Amino acid sequence: MADEIAKEYDVIVLGTGLTECILSGVLSVKGKKVLHIDRNDHYGGEAASVNLEYLFKKYGNYTEGTEPWKQYGRLNDWNIDLVPKFLMSSGELTNILVSTDVTRYLEFKQVAGSYVQQGAGPKATVAKVPSDAAEALRSPLMGIFEKRRMKSFIEWVGQFDHKDSATHKGLDLSSCTMKDVYDKFGLEQTTRDFVGHAMALYPNDAYLNATGAAPEAIEHIRLYGNSVARYGKSPYIYPLYGLGELPQGFARLSAIYGGTYMLKTTVDEVMYEDGKAVGIKATMGGVEPEMKFETKAKMILGDPSYFPDKVKVVGHVLRAICILKHPLANTSDADSCQLIIPQSQVGRKNDIYIACVSAAHNVCPKGYWIAIVSTIAETTANHHLELAPGLERLGKIEEQFMGPPIPLYEPLADGTKDKVFISKSYDASSHFESTTDDVRDIYRRCAGEELVVEGLRELQVASEEQ
Ligand SMILES: *[C@@H]1O[C@H](CO)[C@@H](O)[C@H](O)[C@H]1NC(C)=O
Ligand SMILES: *[C@@H]1O[C@H](CO)[C@@H](O)[C@H](O)[C@H]1NC(C)=O
Ligand SMILES: *[C@@H]1O[C@H](CO)[C@@H](O)[C@H](O)[C@H]1NC(C)=O
Repeated sequence: MADEIAKEYDVIVLGTGLTECILSGVLSVKGKKVLHIDRNDHYGGEAASVNLEYLFKKYGNYTEGTEPWKQYGRLNDWNIDLVPKFLMSSGELTNILVSTDVTRYLEFKQVAGSYVQQGAGPKATVAKVPSDAAEALRSPLMGIFEKRRMKSFIEWVGQFDHKDSATHKGLDLSSCTMKDVYDKFGLEQTTRDFVGHAMALYPNDAYLNATGAAPEAIEHIRLYGNSVARYGKSPYIYPLYGLGELPQGFARLSAIYGGTYMLKTTVDEVMYEDGKAVGIKATMGGVEPEMKFETKAKMILGDPSYFPDKVKVVGHVLRAICILKHPLANTSDADSCQLIIPQSQVGRKNDIYIACVSAAHNVCPKGYWIAIVSTIAETTANHHLELAPGLERLGKIEEQFMGPPIPLYEPLADGTKDKVFISKSYDASSHFESTTDDVRDIYRRCAGEELVVEGLRELQVASEEQ
């Protein structure tokens, strides 16, 4: 191993979370020489997939000497994501996976449903997010006249061309807001809520008033529709055996292109010259004796945990991992689904997300479902209460694992000065759109060009009868 470490790399990547693994994979494919390090003995960092014993131990919810996980079948049948997220089938991450051929190591299957909640408490309705005009007309989320307005809105979104002002309905899209667009179609508040939060996937309402943001919102809505159209049931896909497979897939990709991976390796020091990072001093564990080494690099990429003094906390994620013996109610017994509860439906400022998966994706034994409820904390106490509207959707919960609020970090600087490019923490959303934005953003900053993915092919998604 020791002689495999070169004196100099183009890039050193710290942490094997998904963001870091995508970047190290893509940079390797683009011909960069990459050294990728993780202090843990497993891939995935904060976003690893784990088994039930790990959860009981991590959250301390058992008495010493008992082994409560034993009542839940074989440990190896459990692959529980610490950060649950689904991929948009026509989204950027899927494009990256396909164009880099990482899909050769992974098998994906559709997520069976995409749902949204309207209203709260006993009067709440959970319904499928309508993705085209025909579904809008059948949806219980809207009254008869609203359905027609929604139909014409969805049809317009399909025809909209940013470059062709004839398709702009007389709106000046460079200066109008998305609110103006909704107004134009006369859409009701409740419709705006599910369109903005469950289709365009905005985590809050800031997009409504931003001038010039309408084309982006329209793009997001269109991406939702295109993603549903791709495989049929929902816009989302998810890998068999859980998300932990993704970083490993990218790690293999990087290795094929000459990338070097080192787990159980701690970074002792990041070396700087004239304020620019130029390399690291590190210790490789897992060997006797430990091996210290020093290596240079033109830049360093990493997750926030490797650079505590270069990041700030911008919020906290609340997340409860729940084990169920039944599918979510009102989801047509879906073997997997996403349910979004838009913030204003339950008097909040941040959406509540539920990601639900089951044996259909080989993440737990048959007869179980894993439902993960998450949101951004809005108070400093009673976090259970903040998640309550989501937990209420789950019915009987067999086990619930909820730790303290998880800090959300963002880098203080963009990295162009000190050559340290730091990723953001994984947010509360149950899809990958924001993570992929971060990947693109870091790539743009560190490589000085846009991340272009080429050679798109169709991704094979596993058939229903496995
Ligand atoms: C779920 O479905 C049942 C039976 O159709 C219905 O009575 C109930 O109101 C629905 N609940 C929600 C939250 O949609
Ligand atoms: C958007 O603007 C309207 C009217 O100016 C205001 O009432 C609303 O609170 C604003 N919403 C957000 C999310 O800023
Ligand atoms: C621990 O487990 C018990 C029994 O399953 C449950 O009632 C309790 O809410 C759990 N506590 C935490 C902190 O998750």
